[in-house]
Amino acid sequence: MEIREWAERILSADTLEEKLLAPEALTDRKPGSPLLFSEPVRPAHMGLAKRSREEKLPPFQEHGNSDKRAVCLHRFAGHELLAVEIMAQALLAFPEAPPAFRRGVAHTLMEEQGHVQLYCKRLAEMGVQFGQMPLYRHFWNHVPYLTCPLRYISAMSLTFEMANLDFAPLYGKSFAHFGDTASASLMAQIEKDEIHHVSFGWRWLQKLKQPETPAWDTWTEHLSPKLTPKRARGFVMHEENRRKAGLPDEWIERLKIS
Ligand SMILES: [Fe+2]
Ligand SMILES: [Fe+2]
Repeated sequence: MEIREWAERILSADTLEEKLLAPEALTDRKPGSPLLFSEPVRPAHMGLAKRSREEKLPPFQEHGNSDKRAVCLHRFAGHELLAVEIMAQALLAFPEAPPAFRRGVAHTLMEEQGHVQLYCKRLAEMGVQFGQMPLYRHFWNHVPYLTCPLRYISAMSLTFEMANLDFAPLYGKSFAHFGDTASASLMAQIEKDEIHHVSFGWRWLQKLKQPETPAWDTWTEHLSPKLTPKRARGFVMHEENRRKAGLPDEWIERLKIS
């Protein structure tokens, strides 16, 4: 299947099955002209709720309660589905990006589809169906600003996915603390994959930036106006995950004080 057709189908899908469609072979012979969705089509019960309705995640001390853990997992599953759709949008929006960049985004998208599936499975074990709780617009609010590959990697790989290098282990540790090893190992898998997704963004930042502009400046200049460097980390920073993703110490130190 052509990457363009695949991405278009994902964004137009009104079933979860179609959102998670993963063709065995992808080709990229006809990336076409840029195509933008103002919003993804969603299954009837999975529409994007407005931010004002967004509720806070259950605090860590309540993670002993399985229902509260399920609320966390449902929210994270929603983030994964948004990642799938934002990556599909990037494939449609940047037909002229280097083919290797497009292949990398397509590969990451498939891993995000895998993440949605992992969360669905775990939620089902906990008696929850994905989509039965509200799903939020969240990351999609930033999509209008993702106008070039550099802006895409700055927000997606180097901010949202980068922050998950902290949040995934933080939640995993909390779930493990309350004896939920299945949810903890799911978070460990996400953490592991996320390191590669951040690494993708970091490598392409080097390739796409102006040679004379420092990486940090390129990143901050390409962030959407709604984002600040602080959004790229949790309240406890996992430096070793960033090192594994290839980030230099200088960047890590700077992020720490942002
Ligand atoms: Fe993911
Ligand atoms: Fe990711």
